Amino acid sequence: MKIGIDRLSFFVPNLFLDMTELAQRRGDDPAKYHIGIGQDQMAVSRVSEDIVTLGANAASKIVTEEDKELIDMVIVGTESGIDQSKASAVIIHHLLKVQPFARSFEVKEACYGGTAALQMAKEYIKNHPERKVLVIASDIARYGLASGGEVTQGVGAVAMMITKDPRILSLEDTSVFLTEDIYDFWRPVYNQFPEVDGPLSNSTYIESFQKVWNQYKAVTGRSLADYDALSFHIPYTKMGKKALQSVIDEADGVTQERLLARYEEAIVYSRRIGNLYTGSLYLGLISLLENSEILKAGDRIGLFSYGSGAVSEFFTGYLEENYQEFLFKEDHQEMLDSRKELTVDEYEEVFNEKLPEHGASAEYTSDVPFSIYKVADNIRYYKEN
Ligand code: HMG
Repeated sequence: MKIGIDRLSFFVPNLFLDMTELAQRRGDDPAKYHIGIGQDQMAVSRVSEDIVTLGANAASKIVTEEDKELIDMVIVGTESGIDQSKASAVIIHHLLKVQPFARSFEVKEACYGGTAALQMAKEYIKNHPERKVLVIASDIARYGLASGGEVTQGVGAVAMMITKDPRILSLEDTSVFLTEDIYDFWRPVYNQFPEVDGPLSNSTYIESFQKVWNQYKAVTGRSLADYDALSFHIPYTKMGKKALQSVIDEADGVTQERLLARYEEAIVYSRRIGNLYTGSLYLGLISLLENSEILKAGDRIGLFSYGSGAVSEFFTGYLEENYQEFLFKEDHQEMLDSRKELTVDEYEEVFNEKLPEHGASAEYTSDVPFSIYKVADNIRYYKEN
């Protein structure tokens, strides 16, 4: 039985910051941001947006009335949880009006959480082929104003519907995963922003890719030539390229050219959004599918998922007939093009806004479909679509 991604979509807030402006304000050469890091713009969220609203807005594009009766699980991969106990998936389940006899929960392992959710969904559909699982990867990636990681921030969510006979990407069964207890990036519960060892995170990412890729080759006998494209977790767009370049000499010239060209297509959206943490790999996949004129049905894509801490996985899938018809290319491009550009002052002001805490109240207005309209008695109230 084929199982995989039947629909997928992303959502980002309608504000962004230009990286040239940020570099100039921070006293850096803009070329470092655009070329060295590979980021042109950064998505910025308002205080009335959180992982619930981002996730619900991403999912509302793909969840049909029929789906609401067929979804058995809503799983949210995130590392930007809003509650130590209650899962954001429970609120999203409510906002989307999914049938009540469903499981809703959150999964956490840094940026790997979305992949854990996806693989869990696949296993569930194996035993319940007539049902569906909604997987959401939703995060607000923040390192702090003028911090070393600021240039790699981002915000947004990806939603995927996992079903049998998927219309976009069928997932293959063999995958290789790896766990290593490393402190490259982590966030103690009392920290607003993560602790990060930038150089260690970069090297662990590359070494993890090499380890799972080498093991995958040993298990399957496949090589780079078996892939039409590779899609990477993209904390910033230069990162995946460094990992790809670290193994590219294994391939013949034609394969090298193909994989490097597809890589550029996979980072079109990330260059304009930044890191989505759990959603980044899947934003890259959407970018690849929506911006590649070369890919076609039957093509095999390898996916590298990396979550600091660290858990990584290399898994694969192949494209289904007419998959292009089930994408949201125009909607996504329109969403990016219609965003409002912030000045650095406005960005810093929005960044510093906080929701009220310890029982205090506030009300918000917003034209974003799902958004927070009120906080009172330690509860966030969400405007429904
Ligand atoms: P940094 O110190 O700002 O930058 O840290 P740098 O000095 O290392 O320079 C970056 C690149 O810009 C270098 O290129 C420079 O040469 C180049 P490279 O040698 O690496 O190819 N450069 C220039 N290029 C052109 N013109 C110039 C110029 N100047 C310099 N004038 C760092 C960068 C990414 C470490 C930092 O932003 C950071 O700590 N970010 C957060 C951590 C991160 O994203 N790590 C990635 C791997 S870990 C991961 O993916 C997991 C994660 O998503 C979290 C999770 O799993 O939950 C983060």
